[in-house]
Amino acid sequence: TEVELTDADYQLDGHPDYMRKEIAEQPEAMRRALMGRLDERFSTARLGGLRLEPRDLRSIRRVKFIGCGSAYYAGQIGANLVEELARIPADAEPASEFRYRNPVVDPDTLYVAVSQSGETADTLAAVQELARKGGRVIGAVNAVGSAIARECGSGVFLHAGPEVSVASTKAVTNMSTCFAMLALLLGRVRDLSVADGRRIVAGLVALPSRIEEVIAQDEHIADAARRFSAARHMFFVGRVRGWPVAREGAQKLKEISYVHAEAYQAGELKHGPIALIDGDMPSVVIVPDDELLAKNIGTIEQIKARGGPVIAVTNADLPAGLADIELRVPRTEPELDPILFGIPLQLLAYHLATVLGRDIDKPRNLAKSVTVE
Ligand code: G6P
Repeated sequence: TEVELTDADYQLDGHPDYMRKEIAEQPEAMRRALMGRLDERFSTARLGGLRLEPRDLRSIRRVKFIGCGSAYYAGQIGANLVEELARIPADAEPASEFRYRNPVVDPDTLYVAVSQSGETADTLAAVQELARKGGRVIGAVNAVGSAIARECGSGVFLHAGPEVSVASTKAVTNMSTCFAMLALLLGRVRDLSVADGRRIVAGLVALPSRIEEVIAQDEHIADAARRFSAARHMFFVGRVRGWPVAREGAQKLKEISYVHAEAYQAGELKHGPIALIDGDMPSVVIVPDDELLAKNIGTIEQIKARGGPVIAVTNADLPAGLADIELRVPRTEPELDPILFGIPLQLLAYHLATVLGRDIDKPRNLAKSVTVE
């Protein structure tokens, strides 16, 4: 019962492939996800599809995101947002692990099943396990009418529009955007201030045009990809907000370019991976201009001291010459940085795969949705 795509969804509209088209569609796709869901009067979000009253929202003591691949990493961004904005403990787990470990299902936890296709077998099985044990589960699904959407019965649709490319871009961006709204809502029924709520609402409203600004730097990102096209391995390094961003960046690179990429928390580098740093191991470092800026600059210095080339993805004013290449990201609210920082990494993976002559839309060994175990 997979949702059928129509001929119109298969028009490339002048783009060389679907991934490129879907990257370009992100500002529009995000506007669709935000439409009618931001409440400027009360500085909160309106997510009627959750079917949760304020009292239900207040009774949630923990939030757990479950998904596979990019949906899992988006869930990790969601968990961070929920902890930051609502101060509710939250985490993310791969659906394939969750379903097989006889999970303790807690009635006060809100489970969020995350899936573009709504058909991923592991995620569906996790939802069924939750339903069987009486867990409260909502969907964060793109495909309306899909198995996971139906099984959950309530949730938040991603409204990214049909996604054809195996490597997910606009759906992933809309996942974290929807989680920002969920976190805002959970925060505002608790103790998130009106001022902070207003700040996040305004940040979300402005986000689609910030994405346009990143996409406008396409040529510069393509140059960076050409410069590192000989690399056989790459590190992606981030901390806290930047960590799931690094994981998703590494995932994208692996999926479509077949370049070996590993993501590490910046603080963990020195506990092992730093042994691998040399002139042939470029690191992509996520450097938001937030309270951890000095720490991230220190990380770059450690990598540079061992001869490792550094691509910094940043909205901060870094010391001149610190990084070999800077990929600039516009400013948004710090909590929303992870949504925006993902975009240049999509383009970096895309251009590296293009330089290497890979089949962008049909990467080897991968399927758009994995409906078997
Ligand atoms: C497949 C794809 C991944 C995707 C994952 C989850 O493995 O190759 O790119 O992230 O499934 O898909 P879903 O449709 O559940 O988001």
